[in-house]
Amino acid sequence: MQHAQASEISPFDTQGRRRNALITGASSGIGEAFAQVFARNGFNLVLVARREARLHKIAETLKQAYPIEAHVLPADLSRPEAGAAIFAQLAQWDIPIDALVNNAGRGLPGKLRHSPWSAHRDFIELMVTSYVQLAYLAEQQMIPRGYGRIINVASLAGFTPPAAGHTLYNAAKSFIIKFSEAHAEEVRGKGIHVTALCPGFTWSEFHDVSGTRHLVSQYPDYMWMSAAEVAQQGFEAVMAGKTVHIPGRINRTIARLVKYLPDRLARWLTRSQAQKYRLSTRPNKPNQ
Ligand SMILES: NC(=O)c1ccc[n+]([C@@H]2O[C@H](COP(=O)([O-])OP(=O)(O)OC[C@H]3O[C@@H](n4cnc5c(N)ncnc54)[C@H](OP(=O)(O)O)[C@@H]3O)[C@@H](O)[C@H]2O)c1
Repeated sequence: MQHAQASEISPFDTQGRRRNALITGASSGIGEAFAQVFARNGFNLVLVARREARLHKIAETLKQAYPIEAHVLPADLSRPEAGAAIFAQLAQWDIPIDALVNNAGRGLPGKLRHSPWSAHRDFIELMVTSYVQLAYLAEQQMIPRGYGRIINVASLAGFTPPAAGHTLYNAAKSFIIKFSEAHAEEVRGKGIHVTALCPGFTWSEFHDVSGTRHLVSQYPDYMWMSAAEVAQQGFEAVMAGKTVHIPGRINRTIARLVKYLPDRLARWLTRSQAQKYRLSTRPNKPNQ
């Protein structure tokens, strides 16, 4: 990857004002790691997630370590009103957004028929709608100032064929990749970079929340990346103006394989692997 030079990454705008980064899902994993990367590079932070106490702890730690401001904005992004409420609060605080990391997310174990519609609706709101809405609202502030950095955390799963269980996950992540590509084209030449970051297995709370930790633990260490490395690569990719970035050589090889293998073979391979790490039932439910 073409690395952005540290000198190119100024945390100050032309008026000498410190730039502000809004990071969703900042209470753990990749989002918390992004908070560290942006703070280390001199950006003020606005941290969003549901667990307010965790966000305050992270904000305090980063304020002590770096000469930045860090604000906490608790929100449940599966609620349709959350995006507008976040930007209304930012307007009250007079904090324009220069960088946005759409990262909040989770899995939804089980097949389509295993969850009530409300669970699927909330999942789409969190994993799809909130990403687009926050990018839409941030872009309105970025265009007039001629600067913006948007990272949409997608997944390697956005490239691989879907398997049974977690029905909407691959679909949501494919959407995020295509959305990022389209948005990057629209803002080309306006000082705004949009990057879809597509990690593979990453150490975080994700698989604990999904109840799949015991399954994914079978995968060897070389298949895994730290959240810190994933976030660092995402930061460098957006600063360098890269539209899609897959961190890790193994993950890039998997993506390339899937692209060039015949569809039926790729589907068969995914099916056999996914049985090892996907829950096609809800936890504690018999397989149906
Ligand atoms: N870990 C992996 O292997 C992996 C691989 C590829 C892509 N990803 C993607 O990476 C992103 C971050 O996941 P992670 O691995 O860092 O998992 P994680 O440690 O579980 O973090 C998920 C974050 O999302 C927040 N979140 C979940 N539901 C939310 C809601 N309704 N409203 C607001 N915030 C919410 C959580 O905060 P609260 O619970 O405090 O709300 C938490 O901060 C996700 O989009 C995931 O799909 C992960």
